[in-house]
Amino acid sequence: MDAAVAPPAGESAATAAVAAVAAVGITKRFPGVVANNGVTFEAQTGEVHALLGENGAGKTTLCNVLTGLYKPDEGELRVDGLPVRFRSPRDAHAAGIFMVHQHLKLVESMSAAENVVLGWSRGRGLRFSPRRVEREVAEVAEQYQMAIDPDAKIWQLSLGERQRVEILKALCRGARILILDEPTTVLTPQEADQLFSSVREMAAAGSTIIFISHKLPEVMAVSNRITILRKGVVIGTLKAAETDTTTLAEFMVGHEITEQSRAERGTSAGVGRPALELQDVSAVGDLGLEALHEVSLSIEPGEIVGIAGVSGNGQRELAEVVAGLRRLSRGAIRVEGEPLLPGDARAAIDSGIAYIPEDRMGTGVAPNLSIADNLILKSYRGESLRLGPLVRRKRASLRAHELMKRFDIRAPGPHTLVRQLSGGNVQRVLLARELSSGPRVLVAASPTRGLDVSATQGVRKMLLDTAQRGVGVLLISEDLDEILHLADRIAVLYGGRVVGIVKPAEVTREQLGLMMAGAA
Ligand SMILES: Nc1ncnc2c1ncn2[C@@H]1O[C@H](COP(=O)(O)OP(=O)(O)OP(=O)(O)O)[C@@H](O)[C@H]1O
Ligand SMILES: [Mg+2]
Repeated sequence: MDAAVAPPAGESAATAAVAAVAAVGITKRFPGVVANNGVTFEAQTGEVHALLGENGAGKTTLCNVLTGLYKPDEGELRVDGLPVRFRSPRDAHAAGIFMVHQHLKLVESMSAAENVVLGWSRGRGLRFSPRRVEREVAEVAEQYQMAIDPDAKIWQLSLGERQRVEILKALCRGARILILDEPTTVLTPQEADQLFSSVREMAAAGSTIIFISHKLPEVMAVSNRITILRKGVVIGTLKAAETDTTTLAEFMVGHEITEQSRAERGTSAGVGRPALELQDVSAVGDLGLEALHEVSLSIEPGEIVGIAGVSGNGQRELAEVVAGLRRLSRGAIRVEGEPLLPGDARAAIDSGIAYIPEDRMGTGVAPNLSIADNLILKSYRGESLRLGPLVRRKRASLRAHELMKRFDIRAPGPHTLVRQLSGGNVQRVLLARELSSGPRVLVAASPTRGLDVSATQGVRKMLLDTAQRGVGVLLISEDLDEILHLADRIAVLYGGRVVGIVKPAEVTREQLGLMMAGAA
């Protein structure tokens, strides 16, 4: 199959022009892994170039090399055909290369405008004027249709708005080559469409955009060329117009993809007390407005109930009330018939609620702790205190080894820090911890966001297996196909209310879409 792939960029006829940016034979090693192995890659001026590959294939590493965050062990970078050597991101910025990271890096307590300005005033000396800066920011925002409220504090913004701030920050500082690492994993479909039209504008204006995504249809829709990485090696570069999603998926994983659905497996939804019951639950959101309004819902043991809806219609608050992270203003929650003490995360854990939050790095895992420590974060209290600390460490390490194997967490060892893992492996750590705690209810918020094709398949299989074992699963996802694929019943949230509960077989995508828009 490799013979059908075009040669790596740089040797093909289409690339006669000097590349805006190029990596030539880049190798980057970490203890126990070769993250990039002789990677040769280039992107043209005015091009949207996608990087594709499984979790851990080395995409982020390559981009970190391109932006001076990592020094390559071997190989060379070129900008406009000339060799460059970056000692830090500042050098890359001076060459016009900027990256919007997979996990955003904004200062939460500052406003959007302040974040854009941060680090920009340096070197401008007396010419720096905050008023002029604000005007410039507004102009750039206007040019690329990326409206933001400059005075809003970052913590008040949605993930999509935060990302706009990051992109504006790069553009205002003179980005010519903009790297977007999985930008759409935090976006609603509408926000993603907006981003794509901005990206096209930027390319038309002569910027180069390097774009990482696991979502093949969007890769096809927005990019000119696609470079595929597998285990640190470039498999090839293809023109989007000359390939299709099936081919791309197969090149990524190196074999054919098949998937089993809920319907094929049959359901084990049983009778008896519901695993989870919400009765007239209302709750207030971060901005002080009512985010959930009299939501009533029950999930049987072994049942998967999908929550469909456009993001921002109460999904996050729903997950948080069940996980004990948000107070109720009305109503009650019961787990297997027992009332749950609301707004108490420890009580939720103790009554068997497992939670996979949307915001993994923020609330899901502790990035500065090791895999082993993250895996025992929740069970720590329950561990026998009579054991000495050394014995406990040893046990934690053994358990981590076992879970890493079972959940296919790819890392040099249990002592690797979670922040050093690829995005997909972070999610596996989280799943391993939550699913191995023997839950009765699993709340999964966008559990396959940011995962590659085969990891997505793995997580979906895990959700089905979890339900099969009698756990009630609350699956929150903006991916309608995912919900239609996995759920026994679908509840549609709109404006904080459940506007309908339907069975996947009895509804079309169009009907669901209308319900999600509040029109049915
Ligand atoms: N700072 C680091 N220290 C140690 N290992 C690292 C570090 N950064 C990346 N790695 C390892 O290098 C490999 C490639 O990781 P990378 O983050 O580049 O993958 P990726 O293609 O971006 O994956 P994903 O789609 O999951 O984000 C992985 O095995 C990862 O664990
Ligand atoms: Mg990555």
